[in-house]
Amino acid sequence: MPLTTGTRLGIYEILSPLGAGGMGEVYRARDTKLGREVALKVLPEAFSKDAERMARFEREAQVLASVSHPNLAAIYGVEESTPTRALVMELVDGPTLADRIIQGPLHLDEALPVAQQIAEALEYAHEKGIVHRDLKPANAKVTGDGKVKLLDFGLAKALATEAAGTNRVNSPTISVAATQAGVILGTAAYMAPEQAKGKPVDRRADIWAFGCVLFEMLTGHQVFTGETVTDVLAAVVRAEPEWQALPASTPPSIQKLLRRCLEKDPRRRLQAIGEARIIIEETLSRAVEAGLVPALTEPAAGAPRSAVGRGCCQSVGRRRPRNRLFRQAFARAPHPRAYYCAGKRQV
Ligand SMILES: Nc1ncnc2c1ncn2[C@@H]1O[C@H](COP(=O)(O)OP(=O)(O)OP(=O)(O)O)[C@@H](O)[C@H]1O
Ligand SMILES: [Mg+2]
Repeated sequence: MPLTTGTRLGIYEILSPLGAGGMGEVYRARDTKLGREVALKVLPEAFSKDAERMARFEREAQVLASVSHPNLAAIYGVEESTPTRALVMELVDGPTLADRIIQGPLHLDEALPVAQQIAEALEYAHEKGIVHRDLKPANAKVTGDGKVKLLDFGLAKALATEAAGTNRVNSPTISVAATQAGVILGTAAYMAPEQAKGKPVDRRADIWAFGCVLFEMLTGHQVFTGETVTDVLAAVVRAEPEWQALPASTPPSIQKLLRRCLEKDPRRRLQAIGEARIIIEETLSRAVEAGLVPALTEPAAGAPRSAVGRGCCQSVGRRRPRNRLFRQAFARAPHPRAYYCAGKRQV
């Protein structure tokens, strides 16, 4: 049953629903002790009643709580008030990448900085031995200043039953939501072929999902689709992506990267997500040098210098950029932005 505003779960006070997914409802809530807002993901009843599973989940949650990266939404802990148990997470405002893609494909200057940040988050986690296992546009949020935060990192594993192992086909996101065809479809579309076949999963499954997300950002539609879960999984295992759907302006380096991420055989796939990050960074800097892509790089106030190049944009009012190429890019921009090139302001 949905929780109403004002309901208390331990020290947390429910403020409003944020949405629902495969695992159940997610709420905006206030931590009355620390006085900050958090996101509470209420765990399914069947799950929270199983002491052994909860204990295992808590062990996994501890690992997840130890990761700290600007592009990962933090996991604060588990709230154990009976009868409801919930996962306490960093609250991330802003639309999900899925919400953004519904509005249409992302231009290269928007898609690449998002992909770059996703790659950075994955690279950090993979180095710590953590695999996301459920990367998809619905699990990435893009905040107002262009910063990407990945949600649900490692949860598919943490929530999986011992018997189900690490396979996302058997993950709670899917099994709990067995009646919600839309949710299952949404997750199956990003599953690597080895996952779809029920084989073990490693970081290369995230690399596959990364390829699916980048393809979807650039084309505005999912790379593997179908009417039923079986159709989607069959497409994942057998179908060749519709490469001609990529915009003609997609740089060859990015086309090649997509092909390497979407190799069906994990042994032939791109092996490290850091490679993808490097390719994207190089492509972005070449595009900026050529004036094809504006450097949307005004860092937020107080942001470290390294934030430059990550697609932060800032509203500055409509003023004409000095440089002709930046003027063209500026005219194309959906809203006023400050353009920076090599740290120099262009407007
Ligand atoms: N930490 C968070 N901060 C803000 N909103 C969140 C947070 N986590 C989830 N949400 C929002 O709550 C909604 C439901 O999230 P949920 O993760 O349950 O669903 P999902 O991502 O679609 O599916 P899945 O269960 O496979 O992750 C989504 O709209 C999501 O953006
Ligand atoms: Mg989610």
